[in-house]
Amino acid sequence: MRPTVAHAVTRLGTEGAFAVLARARALEAEGLDVIHLEIGEPDFETPPHVAEAGIAAIRAGETHYCQTAGLPVLREAAAASLSWSRDIPVDPQNVLVANGAKPFLFFTVLATCSPGDEVIYPDPGFPIYESAVRFAGATPVPLPLRESLGFSFDPAELESLLTDRTRLVILNAPQNPTGGVIPLADLERAAAAILRTPAWVLTDEVYARITYDVDAPSISSLPGMLDRTILLDGFSKTFSMTGWRLGYAAVPTDLVDPLTRLIVNSTSCVPPFVQLAGVAALEGPQDAVVEMVAEFRSRRDYLVPALNTIPGVSCIEPGGAFYAFPNVSALPIDADTLAERLLVEAGVALLAGSAFGVHATGHLRVSYASSLRNLEQAVERIRAFVATLGV
Ligand SMILES: Cc1ncc(COP(=O)(O)O)c(C=O)c1O
Repeated sequence: MRPTVAHAVTRLGTEGAFAVLARARALEAEGLDVIHLEIGEPDFETPPHVAEAGIAAIRAGETHYCQTAGLPVLREAAAASLSWSRDIPVDPQNVLVANGAKPFLFFTVLATCSPGDEVIYPDPGFPIYESAVRFAGATPVPLPLRESLGFSFDPAELESLLTDRTRLVILNAPQNPTGGVIPLADLERAAAAILRTPAWVLTDEVYARITYDVDAPSISSLPGMLDRTILLDGFSKTFSMTGWRLGYAAVPTDLVDPLTRLIVNSTSCVPPFVQLAGVAALEGPQDAVVEMVAEFRSRRDYLVPALNTIPGVSCIEPGGAFYAFPNVSALPIDADTLAERLLVEAGVALLAGSAFGVHATGHLRVSYASSLRNLEQAVERIRAFVATLGV
């Protein structure tokens, strides 16, 4: 008899960006020249003072197990940073540290949802939300983000999706994959509706520092919301630290113990030298963050108008993160075929909207975490390819 895998793992989804990256790398190995606009990570080095703090901590012997909830010094720095940036009183005791923001997505769903419970999540959205919900045996309820609303949601639609089985509402802004932000008025209506239910809120704010001329308000700042909100932030995007695997969350008191148990049962703790690099990132000079965001802005300011000059392509201006989400539904081929052919025939790796949900079709996600020169070349390759479609 052959051993089998558990049914639960067959419910896990995946992240399209990693799959396309692997395929693009394989094509490169065969000699194809590929411009990579598929992966969602800043193309900058970790700031030197942060890297040095990590190296110094290794030399100082900070290489052993440590507190599961996180080093007190990092919990305090993270609490101060969240309190200041969201204008809320975050107690360090309510801050937990994990190996990236991602584990908090998974663990929050596991800590709050049982089979039969419903979870409302943004669609288009980061694919891990739906995957975690399905894994937990809960029911994913997509909340459509509307292009006509700058990729925010219609608060009336959110209200209509809330039921007595809703256990968790996931929000994300600035948003992956659209770059959209949620206006304060929409958050206020959402909060008012959610407060009438017993649902928790998970607000994924890993792109909070990457905005351009717009505010990305946090639902956790609204009256009554802090006690029911898991406020998630991380180091990957803000400090270009994707490989360090470090994230943190402010969580309601009732969830501190359940989430800490999930961490101790899985990863035990985040390496202390990584956490000490995180302290240096939060408390040290912020020039690298400011410079990175300025660079992303000039790329966005090139990319979006350039995409809009391609026949059949229209792209609204993203307010944050480093993604453009052009609408390609006017082209004669669907977005999945387009993404595949752009990779193989034009050497441009990007993602089809379908990697981000059922409401994401007809779009491409273009990550502009790549040099201006690469973006210029990619736009010309896309233009030349689209011309072959006879548009
Ligand atoms: C919206 C969103 N949340 C969470 C994450 C995960 O971030 P981390 O590297 O901190 O696990 C990502 C990464 O792409 C993301 O786009």
